[in-house]
Amino acid sequence: MPLPFPILTPEEAAELIGNGSTVGFSGFTPAGAAKAVPAALAKRAQLEHAAGKPYKIGVLTGASTGASLDGALAEAEAISFRAPYQANPVLRKQINNGHVKFVDMHLSTVPQNARYGYLGKIDWAVVEACDMTAGGGIVLSTSVGASNTYLRLADKIIIELNSKHPVSLLGMHDIFEPRDPPTRSEIPIFKVSDRCGSPICIVDPKKIAGVVYTNLEDESGGFDAQTEVTDKIGQNVADFLVAEMKAGRIPSQFLPLQSVVGNIANAVLAAIGKSKDIPAFKMYTEVLQDSVVPLLENGRCKFASTTALTLSPEAMRNVTGNIEFFKQRVILRPQEISNHPEIVRRLGIVSMNTAIEVDLGGNVNSTHVMGKTLMNGIGGSGDFTQNAYLSIFSCPSTAKGGKISSIVPLASHMDHSEHSVQVIVTEHGVADLRGKDPIDRAKLIIDNCAHPDYKQQLRDYMKMVSPDSREPLSLSLGLAMHRQFIRNGDMRNINWEEYR
Ligand code: COA
Repeated sequence: MPLPFPILTPEEAAELIGNGSTVGFSGFTPAGAAKAVPAALAKRAQLEHAAGKPYKIGVLTGASTGASLDGALAEAEAISFRAPYQANPVLRKQINNGHVKFVDMHLSTVPQNARYGYLGKIDWAVVEACDMTAGGGIVLSTSVGASNTYLRLADKIIIELNSKHPVSLLGMHDIFEPRDPPTRSEIPIFKVSDRCGSPICIVDPKKIAGVVYTNLEDESGGFDAQTEVTDKIGQNVADFLVAEMKAGRIPSQFLPLQSVVGNIANAVLAAIGKSKDIPAFKMYTEVLQDSVVPLLENGRCKFASTTALTLSPEAMRNVTGNIEFFKQRVILRPQEISNHPEIVRRLGIVSMNTAIEVDLGGNVNSTHVMGKTLMNGIGGSGDFTQNAYLSIFSCPSTAKGGKISSIVPLASHMDHSEHSVQVIVTEHGVADLRGKDPIDRAKLIIDNCAHPDYKQQLRDYMKMVSPDSREPLSLSLGLAMHRQFIRNGDMRNINWEEYR
């Protein structure tokens, strides 16, 4: 039966969305992101700007997106406001130079903040689906993110019906939206594989302004090759987890893993996957990347709950080619649920995230270079870290060819505090901060994680911390290594006296 909705070209859909609108797009990473309509909106913005007319929209998504959404809209200077996360170089520049207002949010809180009205009125939801019904049933595609909430809250809806994603994805999603306080009750997920919602989103069909047919692959890129440093970090994490299991602090059946997306995460998962001492495990995480597909196939990963399938086109073909196998082993949940503190705490998740810098007190900066320049955003790292059974942060001990130490006296921006961060891992080793006081934590981080080029200068810093200070902090010298980098382009060989 033909759908009873207007069939629109991307350009016709873009014409409907006025200057100043707030749009909730689908997309959590490039997975499941709207593609055709945002690209057409970017073209429209360019034409309007060329004609001397203003055209900008507020962009809400699940997390980062692909080239046709954040990339095209940023290049067309069509974004006024952006939340909750991004990873696009052009947009990053516009945020850092103040041209785009950006709100960096814990991803689990985005849907409830939208419901509470904290993000303003949502005029449009532009959401990718692999199938839909005449009655307003929407089968989402390769991510859920915040789409279910945007579909419900938006005044009007445009669906990108993407035939690149098979309709057989039906059954992989589990759509559940909690009620708001004071009537919220528990989220009934007690095991990674529990389902508590519906396989489809149901919207008021009267809100559907049109359907745009597409046939577009997700714009997920690959990863850089693993390096000696990322391999070593991966091995250190895997060895640490094995030791924890042997010490009885991780139960023998293991605990669900959360893992960030990226090269380090790939190396960590590869090392865990290969470890003969770690039993087959489950994942309760926000993003599944390519490295998890073979682990699901060979049984090393028994089940994965996520909000996005961030897979290269080849890995995606692998999944869709064997969809019934993967539907029994993967659930796609809204980010409100995949990252929910209640579930993370209940399931006892081992969180594994990546830091930009770690300070000697055990505080982690994941978002801002030199305290001011936004990289991507906090993403889900805080959702998991604060509530994990065991929270791990890893990073290479240096950045920019050794000119920056990732271990610094004082983090130039703080995302995860000493109260949530338990374990730090670099290619040089592991600092287990649990149960340690601040001064002992500092010594452990320097001894086990700092790069040899920086160990002595960090020890010298510690000598300048007042002996009666509980914290490893000198107010005058805390950011001296950053100041030296800004001045000389290198944090090494600091003369602490110059900065007193
Ligand atoms: N100072 C300056 N730059 C630094 C740095 C530091 N201390 N540490 C890392 N960088 C730079 C790297 O040089 C690299 O720059 P490049 O892109 O110009 O090469 C960039 O940051 C990325 O670092 P990399 O080592 O390649 O790691 P990554 O790709 O894993 O990214 C984060 C690390 C922290 C930026 C990334 O994990 C992130 O955005 N995390 C926050 C969100 C999050 O955790 N989400 C998932 C939760 S489930």
